[in-house]
Amino acid sequence: MSNTYEIITVPHPVLKQKAQAVSKVDDTIRKQMDGMLQTMYDAPGIGLAANQVDILNRVLVMDLKKRVERGYESEDGDDGDEKEEAIGPIFMANPEIIYESEEMSVMEEGCLSIPKQYAEIERPAIVRVKYLDYDNKEAELEATGLLSHCVQHEIDHLNGILFIDYLSTLKRNMIVKKVEKLKKQDLL
Ligand code: NI
Repeated sequence: MSNTYEIITVPHPVLKQKAQAVSKVDDTIRKQMDGMLQTMYDAPGIGLAANQVDILNRVLVMDLKKRVERGYESEDGDDGDEKEEAIGPIFMANPEIIYESEEMSVMEEGCLSIPKQYAEIERPAIVRVKYLDYDNKEAELEATGLLSHCVQHEIDHLNGILFIDYLSTLKRNMIVKKVEKLKKQDLL
């Protein structure tokens, strides 16, 4: 059983800060990765970046397999793509997008730091990401579909960017207010 973390929510200032690169993936970082993965499973979610647990290093975890196994399906009942993307857990340190397609993709996104709020976000449909894996080895991942949205969303976190930053100021402020209200009412 790994240690777990508390997930911070908007408008916590650490969510707006840029995380720093790690020098290597050692036992300390692996312990953090394990703890973040457990925290993400408990939430439950499909991705989590270090900023969200109040740590400012460039570490993220993802697991889309859990989503399929736990029986989440898109509302139109088409889960074919999600099954293809059933991979994980994926651990990344210092992830860098080295290719993004011109073709764009729109998907509804949510975020554990912005609980119960969702919006359609447009991003490059395909990205290739270079990173250090759990064993400190250089690795690459080509992502499409949900995985592509997820990895771009998590890398955004490491740069202090949230999915609501792609919305109008009005919409963004409304969402933050809603989350604060839910928090006050103890509904999160
Ligand atoms: Ni998020």
